[in-house]
Amino acid sequence: MLQDLEAEVLASHQLGQDVYLLRLYAPLIAEAAQPGQFVHVRCSETFDPLLRRPLSIHDAGNKGELTLLYQVKGRGTAWLARQQPGQKINILGPLGRGFTLPQNKRLALVAGGMGMVPLLFLARRALEAGNEVDFFYGARDREQLYQLETLKAMQVNLFLATDDGSAGFQGPVTKLWEKYIPERSYDRGYACGPRPALAAFARLSGEFSLPAEVSLEERMACGLGACRGCVATLRDASGNRYYENVCTGGPVFDAAAVYW
Ligand code: FES
Repeated sequence: MLQDLEAEVLASHQLGQDVYLLRLYAPLIAEAAQPGQFVHVRCSETFDPLLRRPLSIHDAGNKGELTLLYQVKGRGTAWLARQQPGQKINILGPLGRGFTLPQNKRLALVAGGMGMVPLLFLARRALEAGNEVDFFYGARDREQLYQLETLKAMQVNLFLATDDGSAGFQGPVTKLWEKYIPERSYDRGYACGPRPALAAFARLSGEFSLPAEVSLEERMACGLGACRGCVATLRDASGNRYYENVCTGGPVFDAAAVYW
């Protein structure tokens, strides 16, 4: 159920040049959250609706903790990065349609850059449901691979790729994934990241007849269905085009339904 509440900041850590991990105490949202969903965060002390930002849920624990991992991109997220433990932040959520979660299957999760944010939460829930998780994670360089210790502690099978070869495979994460698809016989695939990576993921999923979902969250602006700035072009089973707001109809969509 949708909640609008004041969440207490438990901790805020800077993980990279402009990347922050924010831990909040928000039990009602943490309990209801599904991987792939997001929250709408008021990034100001005023009621300026333009200063709400949609942020993916990065993790949610059973102690009422909700974790967000975000990049500072403007005034709102810069304000968020200045918040200290004990302060309260208004959040609305959980919002959007999340990932489909099977049980006792072998899953491939493919993350490009900040696309790792919702996939860590998906990996945690997928493991709890008895699935085996191969987690493919690519970034520009080693410094931009975040949360590696957390992922290792979760016991996913972790495969890394970097553009400059400073960690793991040198090249796009989808190229790395492609090598493993035939031998690993996945039951489902999931991806989040920049659009070219998602398009490559969708093409490969189609070639291997793998049911797959993508999160298109990088297209979101207001996050509430108000601005129409997030419209995605989709196609139905007969190939006919239709349009849907990413924030209300997604952000997770069937990879085969997205018009790349
Ligand atoms: Fe504004 Fe979806 S982000 S309508």
